Amino acid sequence: MRAASGLRHIAIIMDGNGRWAMQRHLPRHAGHRAGVKAVRRTVETCAEIGVEVLTLFAFSSENWRRPSQEVGTLMELFMTALGSEAARLHKNNVRLAIIGDRSAFDAKLQARMRKVEELTADNNGLQLIVSANYGGRWDISQAARRLAQRVEEGELRAAEISPDHLHGEMSLAGLPEPDLFIRTGGEQRISNFLLWQLAYTELYFADVLWPDFDREHLEAALTAYANRQRRFGHTSEQVERLRNA
Ligand code: IPE
Ligand code: IPE
Ligand code: MG
Repeated sequence: MRAASGLRHIAIIMDGNGRWAMQRHLPRHAGHRAGVKAVRRTVETCAEIGVEVLTLFAFSSENWRRPSQEVGTLMELFMTALGSEAARLHKNNVRLAIIGDRSAFDAKLQARMRKVEELTADNNGLQLIVSANYGGRWDISQAARRLAQRVEEGELRAAEISPDHLHGEMSLAGLPEPDLFIRTGGEQRISNFLLWQLAYTELYFADVLWPDFDREHLEAALTAYANRQRRFGHTSEQVERLRNA
């Protein structure tokens, strides 16, 4: 399997860990633990098939609303996974970056995030982006704040602000926009993930619960993507003509 040409960036909402555990009469954290294994598989497959960027939604800005015990296990899991996966990521030439408002995390967790980012910073294989305490609205507002700062400092005029300026301040600035969005777990919503960046992304929803997500599920998503026609506002005929030119 190779990623279709033109498919550079996949973004995934990894949903369904809790239900996976409930179906097995296990505590929710067992689902999150099984979810880490699915992350490992997915990262390896994406690296192998030549995807350039993989962005994963690991913890949303709204997930703090969960019972404190669940939030606690998720933080612990984050900490241990960053520790145990660092060497493997590095060996596989993966570059890891974490996006989101990290200031809410424990200092030790923040330090570990920095350490893995530094360790893998010069790798040139798959770029793995983990979204933690991330919200699409947060991302847009932090970008707006930075632009406002530049206006206050006299470096930019308010009237000059364009989508490109805002884009340049967003968390994924400099990276290709997601071509394919996948949400597992059967829900069909964005849940405050990449609101700005998904403007022209192909959306794919799968019923499979995240811990069960494997190579075949990814292949099914890639096949669905390969059968879509991305028009970006053009007509279908224009797209055909451009393709054959
Ligand atoms: C996604 O699985 C993981 C996180 C949000 C951290 P859920 O925990 O949301 O699983 P369900 O939706 O309850 O099954
Ligand atoms: C979205 O899943 C966040 C992550 C997968 C990290 P949720 O399970 O939190 O989303 P909602 O609450 O069902 O919309
Ligand atoms: Mg969920």
